[in-house]
Amino acid sequence: MKNIRAIALLAAGGLLLGATTAVYAQEVKDVQKQIDELRSALPKFAIPMREVGDRFQNIYFAAKGGNWALAAYMAKYMNGSMTPASVTKPAEYKVWKSFYDETFAPVNKTIQAKDWKAFDTAYNAVINNCNACHEGMGYGFIKVVKLKAPADSGINYAIKSEPGDVPK
Ligand code: HEC
Repeated sequence: MKNIRAIALLAAGGLLLGATTAVYAQEVKDVQKQIDELRSALPKFAIPMREVGDRFQNIYFAAKGGNWALAAYMAKYMNGSMTPASVTKPAEYKVWKSFYDETFAPVNKTIQAKDWKAFDTAYNAVINNCNACHEGMGYGFIKVVKLKAPADSGINYAIKSEPGDVPK
């Protein structure tokens, strides 16, 4: 009698374990599905690149107007706008990251130094690198050109400021 009860208990335990495992597997599947859905809803390159394009144009006019904090701010969020691509396009994002950290560094340095002449040179030079990446990724038909006015006209580019004025 004792044995039968023990076997029954064991069997019930086994069933429970099996059921729990099945529920757990289904939960993992559901979570994975949600992650996949979230990821597919995040922007890839095209959407943030629009922001990169606009902020990049604005940087120039901010520096020209002596609004160095605005230039630093635009550069910071030009890079920040690309963050979703680290999830949606990790391999390509690495190329962006090395572009921003290395190739774009002279622009950031001259902003920090408030050196207009050096900035002008570094800024104009980097446009070729933007376009080289477009070509390399099969988008040679997207060619960045310098605008005659900022992309966003609703900001005062001539307020004098320090590059360090951007809140952390
Ligand atoms: C890592 C490579 C890479 C770098 C560096 C890069 N781009 Fe792009 N850019 C792309 C790709 C790829 C696209 C096409 C978007 C897509 O469909 O994937 C693009 C598209 C664009 C577009 C068109 C966006 C639209 O849909 O309207 C603009 C504007 C742009 N880039 C500006 C720039 C500027 C300005 C720079 C330099 C400061 C730059 N890009 C640097 C890869 C790059």
